[in-house]
Amino acid sequence: MKKKIDAVFVGLGYIGLPTAAYAASKGLNILGVDINQKVVDTINRGEIHIVEPGLEKIVKGAITSGNLRAATKPEVADAYFIVVPTPFKQNHRADISYVEAATRAVLPLLKEGDLFVIESTSPVMTTEKMAKLIWKERPELEGRIHIAYCPERVLPGNVIHELEHNDRVIGGIDPESARKAIEFYSKFVKGTLFPTNARTAEMCKLTENSSRDVQIAFANELSMICDKAGIDVWELITLANRHPRVNLLQPGCGVGGHCIAVDPWFIVSDYPEQAHIIKRSRETNDYKSDWCANKALETCRQFELDNGREPVVACMGLAFKPNIDDLRESPAMYITSRIVSESNAETLVVEPNIEKHKTFNLMDYKEAYQKADIVVWQVAHTPFFSIEQDPSKIELDFCGIRKRF
Ligand SMILES: NC(=O)c1ccc[n+]([C@@H]2O[C@H](COP(=O)([O-])OP(=O)(O)OC[C@H]3O[C@@H](n4cnc5c(N)ncnc54)[C@H](O)[C@@H]3O)[C@@H](O)[C@H]2O)c1
Repeated sequence: MKKKIDAVFVGLGYIGLPTAAYAASKGLNILGVDINQKVVDTINRGEIHIVEPGLEKIVKGAITSGNLRAATKPEVADAYFIVVPTPFKQNHRADISYVEAATRAVLPLLKEGDLFVIESTSPVMTTEKMAKLIWKERPELEGRIHIAYCPERVLPGNVIHELEHNDRVIGGIDPESARKAIEFYSKFVKGTLFPTNARTAEMCKLTENSSRDVQIAFANELSMICDKAGIDVWELITLANRHPRVNLLQPGCGVGGHCIAVDPWFIVSDYPEQAHIIKRSRETNDYKSDWCANKALETCRQFELDNGREPVVACMGLAFKPNIDDLRESPAMYITSRIVSESNAETLVVEPNIEKHKTFNLMDYKEAYQKADIVVWQVAHTPFFSIEQDPSKIELDFCGIRKRF
């Protein structure tokens, strides 16, 4: 006889798969659902399709024990978790069509007493919208199922540890829904589970990422002011942070990734008249990437005037932050592409965390430094700090390789 399914996780990507596998490793019977047949087949073989330390072992164990199974279609369970993508559209409005499609897929299976939770980062009121959609299609379930929102705040690369230990915010569409969701998560989360309402939980996730964006924008704005004023921004920030109640972040060449560079727009697009600082911060961080690209191009032009030949430029780092291989929304990618397309310089591209790139021929970082006339420090990858400075090079340090005090 088939075992009763405790929970279905819809969406088996960077967040859905670790959560599903981790819950299964704690003894729950989990069905993971993904529309991608290749993903489903990979997981059912006990393998994984994403890079995440420690995950493969957990997936293999969960598949072998029979507690985890993957499929392209959901089946009847007691709880459903929606962990599908929420990108933005051209106009910066959130695209919740994946959440809606996933909700529609589980809708016919829902029964009285079930739990339905959205984990995808979503604009405020998405959970209420999905509740209305469920009640419209299944009016007999209104007030009889539990609906909640529980955002994820794990750090890629440390997901397994954080899944277990991070505190979670759990917002119900009513207090009983929050209580039911907490009951479920407490089976595998050791962090504190804070109940609230769905809107607050949705806003909490967006606030966390917007807060980082605003603080980075402040550092980036300072870096451009300091450049104009002839002040070393790295020294300035180090000194200001000696104030007991000041804690400035570091500037960089913009903000990338699929969270901090995306989620603040979910607030701005819904509350354009109120979200001034959040909007300006997004724009400032995007502008910083242009500023860096323009500076690099200007330096190439000056080199040509001074030396009568095009320079060799080393673009150091492509990832959106140090020591990872993730290129999504990466400012370093943007700057590199502009140098390649808008200058005649010979461009050497470096990304020590990636072996092969489809557009750029990647070069060893030491070799690129040695060959370059102009070195553009784009990402503060740890190995870069070991390169001794050669005073004959022109260095543009956008991420503090030479300036960490
Ligand atoms: N990756 C992170 O670090 C992170 C952190 C916090 C929150 N989030 C949020 O979590 C959500 C999921 O992000 P992710 O990084 O796991 O995405 P992902 O792109 O890695 O994975 C999403 C998966 O969902 C599948 N999918 C899409 N539509 C589907 C459908 N209708 N039915 C079943 N499967 C479907 C895709 O095939 C894919 O495998 C997003 O809202 C994201 O913003 C991500």
